[in-house]
Formats: sequence, structure tokens, C-alpha cells
Amino acid sequence: MNLQDKIVVITGGASGLGRAAAEYLATKKGAKVALLDLNAKAGAETVAALGEDKAIFCQTDVTSEESIDTSISAIMAKFGAIHVDINAAGIPLPCKILDKEGKATSLEKYATVIKVNLNGVFNVMAKCAEQMAKNQPDEKGERGVVINISSGAAYEGQIGQSAYSGSKGGVNSMNMPAARELAKYGIRVNSIAPGLFGTPMVKSLDEKVQKILISMCEAPKRMGEMVEFSHTCIYLVENSYVNGRCLRLDAATVMQAR
Ligand SMILES: NC(=O)c1ccc[n+]([C@@H]2O[C@H](COP(=O)([O-])OP(=O)(O)OC[C@H]3O[C@@H](n4cnc5c(N)ncnc54)[C@H](O)[C@@H]3O)[C@@H](O)[C@H]2O)c1
Repeated sequence: MNLQDKIVVITGGASGLGRAAAEYLATKKGAKVALLDLNAKAGAETVAALGEDKAIFCQTDVTSEESIDTSISAIMAKFGAIHVDINAAGIPLPCKILDKEGKATSLEKYATVIKVNLNGVFNVMAKCAEQMAKNQPDEKGERGVVINISSGAAYEGQIGQSAYSGSKGGVNSMNMPAARELAKYGIRVNSIAPGLFGTPMVKSLDEKVQKILISMCEAPKRMGEMVEFSHTCIYLVENSYVNGRCLRLDAATVMQAR
């Protein structure tokens, strides 16, 4: 699918990877972007920088159907269609199974991560797919593309990442059934599993921890650049033959246990 004049919904679009993709797609590929995020201040700033003709911000909680419905209505009223959905909203909340005293963690903490990172992805994907299915197919028969953001932690989660890894593994496992089901509408579904990118989520970690994480990158031995993430989103939108898969974007990194 060609991105020129297409409407791209990006959750987590007010920060980090989501915001970087929004800026790149709007300024370099001629797309119009809808940013769905909890953070109203950062969302408004991003829209101001891109221009209101190219961007809309909708304060959204991806865990709430009602909140997404309201945002989708606003996007349809402004731009009239949805062609691409990039689901990057996520939280990294650590969650050990047992605490220092050997006591089981509360289910609530685990469930919070699953609710945002996994249920939130399904929630937004389903609502966007409903709109995509109404599009006229392009010359390749495509009506929409979904890109869900997973993580390298889906494969080699570290100690304390049972909830996070579980949520991201779930995102990857949805690729195939979603791609199969939505194929008849001309909608493709893939995920990206980033390694280490210097977003606010990662920069909030202790510097010592960041150095240890970089040391686990094989080559190149550095954090990923925002443009490298944006290019991967573009590749997945433009290459019609990639479907139902997860693309690892991680410099051959294999995370150690801690
Ligand atoms: N940065 C990395 O190295 C890295 C590595 C692997 C995976 N990821 C994944 O990439 C995605 C983006 O991460 P990032 O590093 O850009 O993080 P970030 O913290 O910079 O951005 C995440 C955004 O999601 C929003 N958000 C959180 N909960 C939400 C909710 N309930 N509803 C709507 N918005 C919500 C936040 O407000 C924030 O703006 C996440 O899913 C993360 O798990 C990031």
C-alpha cells in the first residue's frame, strides 16, 4: 500500500516510537496521522508541529472500548477513512512472580500490563479493521494494514518480565489468525519486535542498566535509531507480500536473564 494521502492511526503516538513514526510518515511519506494516547500535552505538541491539516490528536485509553469508539468517530469525521493502524501504546511495568519474601505477586499488577499491551492492541485493531473494511481496495486489492508493536522480550524476556513478555508474545501470536481472518477484507497484519531504542521508556531506566542493555546488542552495538523503526513501518505498509509475521528489529540482540 502506498502511504501518500493515507490515514494512519498510531497509538502511543505522543511519545517514543509511535511519535517518531507519526512525524516521519507525515513529513516524508505524505500520510495523515491520528495520534491516540493518554498524554494530551505531548499529543497536542506533536499535532502543532505537524500542522492540523496533517494530524489529529485524540486523548484515548486503549483499554477502553468507549474511549476508542470516541476517537475513531473523531478521526472519521476529520479524515473520512482509516488505512493503517500502528499499535505502539505500551507499558513496561516489571512484575516478578514472587517477591523477596517468596510471596506471590498480586494478579492486579500482571493484569494491568496485559490489559494495556495485549487487550489494548486487540481493541484498537478491531475498531480500525471495521473502518478499513469499508475502504475501496487499491490496485493490489488492499484496504488496510495493521502493525502491532511487540518486543524482543516476547522471545527472551528477562527476570521480572513475565507479564510484559506474556503480553508481547500474545501480540505476536495474534498475527497469523488476524491475518487469516482479515485477508478477505484485504487487510494485512504484522508485528515488529524492537530490541533497544532510546525512547522515554528506555531513557527512564538507570544509566547503568542502559549500558548493560547496550552491551547485549550484538551488532551494531548501540540503541536503534527512530528512523530505523519508521523505515520498518514503511516497509511493512508498502510490501504487500509480508503478512502474518513478526519482524525482529534488534541488531541480533539476545537478552540475558538479567
Ligand atoms: N523503546 C524500546 O526499546 C522498546 C523495545 C521493545 C518494545 N517496545 C514497545 O514499543 C512501544 C512504544 O514504546 P516506547 O519506547 O516508544 O514507549 P513510550 O513510553 O515512549 O511511549 C508509549 C506511549 O504509550 C502511551 N500509553 C500508555 N498506556 C496507554 C493507554 N492505556 N492508552 C493510550 N496510550 C497509552 C504513553 O502515554 C506513551 O505516550 C511499546 O509497546 C513498547 O512496549 C519499545
